[in-house]
Amino acid sequence: MSTLIDTTAEDARSSTDAVLSVDDLNVRFPTEDGVVHAVRGVSFDLRPGEVLGIVGESGSGKSVTSLAIMGLLPGSAQLTGSVKFRGRELLGLNDRQMSVVRGKSVAMVFQDPMTSLDPVYKIGVQIAETVRQHDKNLSRQAAKARAVDLLKLVGIPNAADRVDSYPHEFSGGMRQRVVIAIAIANQPEVIIADEPTTALDVTVQAQVLEVLKTAQDETGAATVLITHDLGVVAGMVDRVLVMYAGRAVEKGTVEDVFYRARMPYSIGLLGSMPRIDAGERQRLTPIKGSPPSLINPPPGCPFGPRCPLHYAQCDVAEPDLRQVDGAGHVAACIRVDEIVQTDADADDIFSKDSSDATLAAAAEIGERAEDAVHIEPGALHDPTVAPPIGGATRSDEAAARRDPEERA
Ligand SMILES: Nc1ncnc2c1ncn2[C@@H]1O[C@H](COP(=O)(O)OP(=O)(O)O)[C@@H](O)[C@H]1O
Ligand code: SF4
Ligand SMILES: [Mg+2]
Repeated sequence: MSTLIDTTAEDARSSTDAVLSVDDLNVRFPTEDGVVHAVRGVSFDLRPGEVLGIVGESGSGKSVTSLAIMGLLPGSAQLTGSVKFRGRELLGLNDRQMSVVRGKSVAMVFQDPMTSLDPVYKIGVQIAETVRQHDKNLSRQAAKARAVDLLKLVGIPNAADRVDSYPHEFSGGMRQRVVIAIAIANQPEVIIADEPTTALDVTVQAQVLEVLKTAQDETGAATVLITHDLGVVAGMVDRVLVMYAGRAVEKGTVEDVFYRARMPYSIGLLGSMPRIDAGERQRLTPIKGSPPSLINPPPGCPFGPRCPLHYAQCDVAEPDLRQVDGAGHVAACIRVDEIVQTDADADDIFSKDSSDATLAAAAEIGERAEDAVHIEPGALHDPTVAPPIGGATRSDEAAARRDPEERA
């Protein structure tokens, strides 16, 4: 059975050894159309040396979360909750105080390397500048030597010569290597990499990830790797946090989320990505529709309009994170027990013609369950009855009622 986890107890236990603790972070942007509630109650702990992957579609609040941690959001943003680095509260620090934290304690790698590089300065000067910012006693010569070492570490060929190049003389992948060199220049304890490979050619993406891994090994920094692409995190992270509509909807180890995802959205994300371990006959099952507006969202599960397992009960309240199989594995769905029992995958949930066997198994479990919902074929169109897991489950009327755009 799933149980609602006592997050306060868990956090009290783990935040003592966490290098970065984010607790009930909320970010709101007042706009002309209303208040955009971009991040809604996100909590996580990052332990020393650990790599956490944050995944979710575009617009799910990943970048706003990382910018909130770094103190880089526009002044209009309203923040509540807590972000602690080694027990020290960062929310509310002024820009001067935060500039000491940035780079030295927590460093960031952005999607576009040119966000971090100044086109008018040689890259060696920019790296040396970063080093000297936090170590004022270092001579220029020593700082330049350090820049060369860092460029070698991130795999820039002829580092001693290239240290005098300008950013435009580098390719995108090489520029991102330079940005990683700058990020680790001061041995930060935390690196936050927000879509670090998204702007790069596919062939270069893996190399840059490899460089990030080297940088992480070299510094021992705990790392937050943010991406919309689950494939990116697979070989790199220890734990995964899946975000949807500004919230964490599933958290667990990389094995939990890759092999035992329990929240339909995470299951759908996995089903829509090609997997090396699935062999040749894999079928991709895309999630239809788009994420909800973050201005006055309706009550209930935000994934409801796109979820084939949705029924009326899902609209009553937003599901809390519940413990599922595995210590620390939590998922926000009121049907996680059934999903665990049927071990449903993306094909079972998102494909309209999945096997009868799964459907029968789900119905059987439904009959056995304490609060059994007996599934009659005719009942599949009744929105008050939970649709079975597996098989065609959504009537056209129900789909149209919940998500008119999807049918357009
Ligand atoms: N400055 C801002 N003002 C208003 N809304 C914003 C602002 N920045 C981000 N948002 C909104 O917050 C939501 C989350 O954005 P973001 O964190 O960038 O998503 P992701 O990085 O997951 O793609 C989006 O709906 C976005 O439009
Ligand atoms: S079954 Fe209900 S609660 Fe679970 S993800 Fe689908 S809509 Fe949300
Ligand atoms: Mg983003």
